[in-house]
Parts: sequence; C-alpha cells; structure tokens
Amino acid sequence: MNPYPVYVERAAGTRLEDADGHRLLDLIYNATSLIHGHVHPQVTEAIRDQAGRATAVLAPNTVQIDLAEELCARVPSLDRLRFTNSGTEATMMMIKTARAYTGRDLVLKMDGSYHGTFDGMEINAATPGSERGAPYTAGVPANLADNVVIGSFNDTDGVVSLIERYADRLAAVIVTPMASIATWVPPAPGFLEAVRAAATAHGVLLLFDEVIAFRVAPGGAQQRYGVTPDLTAYGKVIGGGMPVGAYGGRVDVMAVTDAAGGPRLAHAGTFNGNPVTAAAGLATLRLLDADAYPRLERLGERFATRLRGAFADLDLALEVRQVGSLVSVATTERTPAAWGEVNAAMRLALLNRGVCGWGVFALPTVFDDAEIDEAVEIIHDALRVPAAALHEVPVG
Ligand SMILES: Cc1ncc(COP(=O)(O)O)c(C=O)c1O
Repeated sequence: MNPYPVYVERAAGTRLEDADGHRLLDLIYNATSLIHGHVHPQVTEAIRDQAGRATAVLAPNTVQIDLAEELCARVPSLDRLRFTNSGTEATMMMIKTARAYTGRDLVLKMDGSYHGTFDGMEINAATPGSERGAPYTAGVPANLADNVVIGSFNDTDGVVSLIERYADRLAAVIVTPMASIATWVPPAPGFLEAVRAAATAHGVLLLFDEVIAFRVAPGGAQQRYGVTPDLTAYGKVIGGGMPVGAYGGRVDVMAVTDAAGGPRLAHAGTFNGNPVTAAAGLATLRLLDADAYPRLERLGERFATRLRGAFADLDLALEVRQVGSLVSVATTERTPAAWGEVNAAMRLALLNRGVCGWGVFALPTVFDDAEIDEAVEIIHDALRVPAAALHEVPVG
C-alpha cells in the first residue's frame, strides 16, 4: 500500500495499534475472519489452552472432531467435512473433489468472483460478457481457461443456459451465494434456486463458496437463502483468527477422498486439521449463539443506514449494500466517473483519521453504536471536500 502500509504491533477488541502508537478503529477484521474482534478473551484462552496440549499432530485430534461436529450440526448439507489451512485450499480441494466424482473437467464460475489464489480459478471473462475465460493475473497458464466457463452472477437465464449447453462436460458450478465481486452482492430472487434446479437436472454439482458468506446465518448463506449445495467451502470465521479452511457436503461425493481402501483423490497437507486452529474456531462458534446473529444484523443495519445518511448529506450517488454484519459501498449509474480516484484515496484518508478499512466492511459482535457513529462521522469528514469537487465533474 502507498506510501507504506500500517505495521501493526498489537490489537484488542475493535482497535489496532500501529508501530508508532496510533490507535485505529478496525472495520475489516483480517478480511472478515475475526467475528468477535481482536484477541477475544475466550478465543485467546482456547488458543493458549490448546497450545499447551498439542500444536500440530499427524493424526486426527479431538478438538478437530469437536469443530467438525459443531459445523455439521449447523449445516445440514455437511455429511462429511475436511479441514484445510486456507479458503483457497478449501475451494481448490472442493473443485478437485467435484471433478474426481463426476469425471468431468469443466467448471462454471461467475465473472469477477474470487475463490482464492489457485491457478484454476484465477480466470474471468476474456472480454466483457464472454463465456470464454482468460487468466486475470500473471503466472497462470492461458490454457487453464479451457477448463472454465464464465457466467454472470444473478443472470439467471444466462447461467441456466450455460449449464444446459455444457452439461455433459461440466463437473460443477461454483457460486458465492452472496457474491464478492468488488463489493458484496446479494443473490437476486430465484437465481440460486434456478442454478440449483438446472445443476440437478444435468448431474452437475452445485458448489457454494461460503468462505465469507457463512457468517450471515447460523447455518451460513445456504440457510439464509434456502438453497442447498452439494459441497461447500469455508474459511475465515471458522478458525477464530487462526489460518483455516474446510470443505464438505454429500457423503457420496466426499467418498472420493476417503482414505480407507485407497482414496481416488488424496488430500495431503502437513497442517490440515490443526488443533490450535480448531480450538480457536470452536470457541468462536460457541460465542456465535442465538443472541449474536440478531446483534450482528442490527449493527449492520445501523451502519448501513448511517452510511446512506452520510452519502445523502454529501449528495454522493453511492449505493450501500448490507447483509447481516457485511456492508459494502457500490457505485450506481449516477456516480461520477471521477469517483474512482476518490475511492482509491479513501483508505489513506481514513487511516490518517484513525479508521482502518474502506469499501467493504465486516462488523464484529463487539462493535457498538458509538463506534458506528464514530466510523461514519470520520468517513463523512474524509469525503466532505472530494464530494463537493465531484459535483463539478460529469456522471460516468
Ligand atoms: C469468497 C472467497 N473465497 C475464497 C477466499 C480465499 O480464502 P483465503 O484467503 O483464506 O485463502 C476468499 C478470501 O478472501 C474469499 O473471499
């Protein structure tokens, strides 16, 4: 980050402290992974306790089973579950599992969607609207795009017709139920249902990437939106701030990774199912009780409402999207073209005013109303001068 990043010394609750002693109000919590804020006493105690028992073992461990049982109890579609060390590994293994099960190579992904940093999914539309893909980063061989078909999130008819067209070569459709495409985009009514029905009709597996979206309900996005995938990938909050990923689902599909009798698909990984991660994740999920979800919802609503008020006051044509504690800022057709420059400068403008994070926000349970007001006031202040200048430039 220009001119240089913040170097964090310590963090607690809702605040970071940098190497120069500045205190910063955090609005993103390690890319959404700390749903109870930094260094929560119960999560820290669980990490400490487990660190005194075993930090890494080449064997199943009891705390890993406890975390798996907690997840399976929340998510009825999880018959079987495997742990990884990141969301990237979870989506990667989920796709390999779908290919191994179906014996097909193609995967349909949504344009602009992010599923982590492995070659096979770092593919977007080759040209706008195209179903053909191309790598969106250097280092990915162009021919990997041959295995990917590109659809458009919330384009129900388009995605269904792609499933029909490629059916006999398509292993899976991977969807983030609440897409992260620059901002967080909720599914249009009927979109997930139609994709589910088309996938089932053609023997194509439906994969959900809930690495972020799991936090929107006790059973994750599939509970909130009422659509059941065949496999789901997890990460972030299920590790309580420790490195984590997991994926699982239908017992017959997950059977391709079953080590008994020799798996068709081996899933090796020195740190898979790490017990310290599992202890932190378990403590985190136990704190995510029946009171936590309405609290997160209310915090998200208040933050989104205040943010809309600030943008209205500044006469800025920006949309605020909110699902639970996830809030994001999106442009509209009326947003001036020059907004892009202001947007890019906001991160630094906010850091200089004591706030960390801009554009996509993930509020933790330990946030309070006064902190929402503080954050929105600072955002309002940072935007005051550029917003006035933007009124002079054309809409774009
Ligand atoms: C939807 C989604 N999938 C996968 C990933 C990758 O997870 P990780 O960063 O743990 O590898 C992310 C990370 O932001 C994500 O947002």
